[in-house]
Amino acid sequence: MIIGVPKEIKNNENRVGVTPAGVVELVRNGHTVYVQSTAGEGSGFTDDMYEGAGATILPTIEDVYSIAEMIIKVKEPIESEYSLIKEDQLLFTYFHFASYEPLTHAMIKQKAVCLAYETVERADRSLPLLVPMSEVAGRMSIQEGAKYLEKPLKGRGILLGGVPGVRPAKVMILGGGVVGTNAAKMAAGMGADVTILDTNLARLRYLDDVMPANVNTFMSNEYNIRELLSTHDLIIGAVLIPGAKAPHLITRDMLKDMRPGTVVVDVAVDQGGCIETCKPTTHENPTYIIDDVVHYCVANMPGAVPYTSTLALTNATLPYAIQLANKGWKQACADSNELKLGLNVVQGKVVYKGVAEAFNLDYTPVESVL
Ligand SMILES: NC(=O)c1ccc[n+]([C@@H]2O[C@H](COP(=O)([O-])OP(=O)(O)OC[C@H]3O[C@@H](n4cnc5c(N)ncnc54)[C@H](O)[C@@H]3O)[C@@H](O)[C@H]2O)c1
Repeated sequence: MIIGVPKEIKNNENRVGVTPAGVVELVRNGHTVYVQSTAGEGSGFTDDMYEGAGATILPTIEDVYSIAEMIIKVKEPIESEYSLIKEDQLLFTYFHFASYEPLTHAMIKQKAVCLAYETVERADRSLPLLVPMSEVAGRMSIQEGAKYLEKPLKGRGILLGGVPGVRPAKVMILGGGVVGTNAAKMAAGMGADVTILDTNLARLRYLDDVMPANVNTFMSNEYNIRELLSTHDLIIGAVLIPGAKAPHLITRDMLKDMRPGTVVVDVAVDQGGCIETCKPTTHENPTYIIDDVVHYCVANMPGAVPYTSTLALTNATLPYAIQLANKGWKQACADSNELKLGLNVVQGKVVYKGVAEAFNLDYTPVESVL
């Protein structure tokens, strides 16, 4: 199959859909890979590295879209890319269709085959192509939180790990899923005093078993959250209720219970945030202050560490990309329920129920397009 890797053109997106290591694997499987010039630059991969791996470099994005049968990228196509997409072309990338109606209509119009990373789903209902970004964001939340706790950045001026004779910072993590667990590992490793709250008792039992001694677990409810707020220095929002907005576990009136310089990193900002006063920020302007509480609410945290994020993402996507290239999308999706659930829009038809419902569009069962 002919595979194309365009350069991401969405603002501040430095990741790339395939690494040189991925090119080696695709070529070994008999495929031809075209990479747009400088596509890997933001992640530290030069054109020479791609050529050395067996890819051919093409100068423009138009060249890549016009030659490829399958496009592998990271973010959803943006307006200027819509017209480059060809009928029957397979696009394997994040789409997040339900959050942007014009994209859905554009993909219907172009009659492309859109296989969305975010809806590829395992039998245990986990989302293997979202997990890597949650791992990155969870680990990063502690790094960012520790930084904003510094006094010059308006924090409480407390060192996460303390020093001999001085207590470490207290870190409270709302939600013990992928983000929360990765945050807890980092905070615990730095010597902080960590508390994870979750509503899922089985999950708390598991975390209690595997976490080090400086991590405690607590049932998540309003009473417990209010009790902990006044004594904790760094709060991480890591809650997810699939398919719903994040619940506001910390309401505006609770901010007054927190000490000046407390830092909140609301990783769940992309689902509305679990702190009522959360509004999305960017890497250029990551924080704002309300009632002396520092809010960090960057919606695309992994974007700040493109080297790690690209490798983490492509480690997860490549095995699926190889299946799609080796078998063609129809056979690969017929053979793998995980991949089949990734199909959202196929040759003008919406085949993912959630997307059809979001915009009141006709729904076509995915089986009928295979
Ligand atoms: N900002 C970013 O850059 C970024 C990056 C990656 C992920 N995220 C977001 O982070 C959030 C968490 O993702 P995840 O992969 O960890 O999800 P996950 O499903 O692995 O974990 C969510 C956890 O929240 C728990 N939960 C649900 N309701 C709760 C409540 N009332 N109190 C406490 N816990 C509760 C669940 O039991 C679960 O353990 C999601 O909104 C995700 O989209 C953001």
